[in-house]
Amino acid sequence: MEFFLDTADVDEIREIAAWGILDGVTTNPSLIKKSGRDFKEVVREIAGICSGPISAEVTAMDTNGMLEQARQLKSDLPNNVIIKIPCTPEGLAATKVLTQEGVDTNVTLIFSASQALMAAKAGATYVSPFIGRIDDTGHDGMNLIAEIMETWAQYDISTKVLAASIRHPTHVLQCMQLGAHTATMPAKIFRQLMKHPLTDKGLEGFMRDWAEVEAAGKA
Ligand code: G3P
Repeated sequence: MEFFLDTADVDEIREIAAWGILDGVTTNPSLIKKSGRDFKEVVREIAGICSGPISAEVTAMDTNGMLEQARQLKSDLPNNVIIKIPCTPEGLAATKVLTQEGVDTNVTLIFSASQALMAAKAGATYVSPFIGRIDDTGHDGMNLIAEIMETWAQYDISTKVLAASIRHPTHVLQCMQLGAHTATMPAKIFRQLMKHPLTDKGLEGFMRDWAEVEAAGKA
């Protein structure tokens, strides 16, 4: 079970990395835009904060362009950077070549089990089904995770299922119950996963009582 952050905000990455349970980071062109920073500069910094796989996305639409960008990213950036590729026929071809070259990939924008299967067949290290965006259309994104995991169970597939576009903590729990290998989520959801009002209330009580033990010189 892996937990990734879905952000290019280095302050958030530092905050969650300090918890000791961060396994990787995913970025995409929209998250890079939101960071307001230079693409390679921010990905390099992220790769220095988190030693796990850091997804950096190619933006070319053709296979050769994707391969050129991927090779450049691999040569310019730290070793833990992996290549995020859109789930298109051109992306599939690029994934196949990169797999043969020993480059780890994350095939993104997956909205059907058949797309996930095709990406796995091309040798993708990760496939990223987008749950929240399916929910947004009035369908249940979790069904896609269930369908993919059911398919995976029939074969010896090494590709990891990376649940993406996660909108709330329940999404994460449900994905893990279905056996998804990885979930990528915003920092807000990491915080929500840890938060419980009874933990806060209980701790407050313990601290109040302990202060009295100390005040009585019995600590
Ligand atoms: O990293 C891709 C994915 O997680 C995007 O999520 O919230 O933009 O649908 P969202």
